[in-house]
Amino acid sequence: MRLENLTNKKLRAWIDEMARLCKPDSIYLCDGSQEEYDRLSAQMVAQGTYIRLNQEKRPNSFICFSDPSDVARVEDRTFVCSHNKDDAGPNNNWRAPDEIKAVLTKLYDGCMRGRTMYVIPFSMGPLGSPIAHIGVELTDSPYVVCNMRIMTRMGAAVLKTLGDGDFVPCLHSVGYPLTGGRKDVPWPCDSENKYIVHFPEERTIWSYGSGYGGNALLGKKCFALRIASVMARDEGWLAEHMLIMGITSPEGKKKYIAAAFPSACGKTNLAMLIPTIPGWKIDCVGDDIAWMKFGADGRLYAVNPESGFFGVAPGTSMASNKNAMLTLTKNSIFTNVALTPDGDVWWEGMTDEEPAQLTDWTRQPWTPGCGRPAAHPNARFTTPLAQCPIADSAWDDPAGVPIEAILFGGRRSSVIPLVTEAYSWEHGVFLGSIMASEKTAAAAGKVGELRHDPFAMLPFCGYNMADYFRHWLTIGKRHGAHLPRLYYVNWFRKDDMGRFLWPGYGENCRVLKWVFERLEDAAPAVDTPLGRIPAPGAIDVSGLSITHEAMAELLHVDATELRNELPSIEKHYRQFGNRLPEALWDQVRAFEQRIK
Ligand code: OXD
Ligand code: MN
Repeated sequence: MRLENLTNKKLRAWIDEMARLCKPDSIYLCDGSQEEYDRLSAQMVAQGTYIRLNQEKRPNSFICFSDPSDVARVEDRTFVCSHNKDDAGPNNNWRAPDEIKAVLTKLYDGCMRGRTMYVIPFSMGPLGSPIAHIGVELTDSPYVVCNMRIMTRMGAAVLKTLGDGDFVPCLHSVGYPLTGGRKDVPWPCDSENKYIVHFPEERTIWSYGSGYGGNALLGKKCFALRIASVMARDEGWLAEHMLIMGITSPEGKKKYIAAAFPSACGKTNLAMLIPTIPGWKIDCVGDDIAWMKFGADGRLYAVNPESGFFGVAPGTSMASNKNAMLTLTKNSIFTNVALTPDGDVWWEGMTDEEPAQLTDWTRQPWTPGCGRPAAHPNARFTTPLAQCPIADSAWDDPAGVPIEAILFGGRRSSVIPLVTEAYSWEHGVFLGSIMASEKTAAAAGKVGELRHDPFAMLPFCGYNMADYFRHWLTIGKRHGAHLPRLYYVNWFRKDDMGRFLWPGYGENCRVLKWVFERLEDAAPAVDTPLGRIPAPGAIDVSGLSITHEAMAELLHVDATELRNELPSIEKHYRQFGNRLPEALWDQVRAFEQRIK
């Protein structure tokens, strides 16, 4: 494909302008073909970025190790640059657009010298779907190109669909120009200067200095969540940090559920769950992001804007997520996992027994007990969704799938019961808005600390979260009749000894079954101050060895414990000042009454 043949004037002008600024040696328009993917992969092997894995064990797959300074999303270097600081809200780092553009323009000036600028046209969502949107990423990283080919619908077909239409411009550079005889390195990045910048009014993304994950694969968090959340607010739809799954009962009835959890809280495991109750079936539409628009019939339809999984590797095993393990048997990219002597991959938790020796993610020899993890805790696999054994038959359907329930969940060792049903949409918005979770390794920062992460969108909402809550409330007012029901779940409650009370993983289907039956008005519930919880015996525990005491504790709602949460909820709300919708303060007051 040739640049000269590009007919979209805005696209052509933007590429020219960015090329003048970044000064690459050449510009390459990606066609998205297998041949192109293979060529770039071979180039990265030659360059030392990639190591090809054992072809017999893991065909057409590669491992790479990042720079130790570039291992996760950098939330403190992520900015939402609206004209007005208040429009970004207390949930975002803000800089004035002109100010940050001046800083970044200096950094971008000549940043691609000695490199190729790749032009990646990509569609978030099935090509041509009314729920999908198109972006174009310019990057100097072939690693990004290859990951984007797995994670998005990418290449020539997208340009065709785009025609003269609009797209979200996404500029990315690793920030490592090859000037003055500087040699390339396996993982180029700028460890001193990292900027992940969003201009919500312009619907534009500028990323500099990192080659890792959500910092660099701009379709994912930057576009599909931060920019898309703004588009969704303006256009009356929802762009959410949610998995999408189909659940089918033994009678053959199928429902679709979306679920929001903070990073590294088991979304991928839940999305690919293998039910332990006979006769139930789960199908996977997506594991990270849902775009949802209302259809002509008034129902809420969701697509997965992505076409692959960028999943956390450590902890993934045949026991914890067999479907993920079967998905990543071929055509996959592994970043910051360990390499076995026979050219395969390994990470903590993959097998019960640790291999006798490995090359760890820092490229050093590793032996069990050496005191270092073999894989980085945020090591990832990039793998095509189409390879998932339980990929839903509608995962690529432009019409999307109708959502009947939405779950919110966090990692809470106490207070929050296994499952709670909201009394109403507004009450569900309240529950989503007060979600808190113990921090994980998916973002830089202290693991274990409790932080409010409303709707699991704290790092991903591209505007003031108070306005986001208002948007959810408005959706409720506008679409009353067919709205999904809302639930709050917690797989992570612990007993006094610090042991998990709930087995999780495949057993979570027992909670999904209760939700399914609630939607059919076929399962009993009891009212508590937090919401409706399963009546005693309503969760099917047949075949599960769990004590009555454990079940009682899992479903226990303690008014005193909830009262202790109140100050932090109020503090969390107060940060939004008078922008916080009054309807949510009404919810706090009603909650207060219930826990008196
Ligand atoms: C992710 C994240 O990578 O949420 O999905 O950090
Ligand atoms: Mn995520």
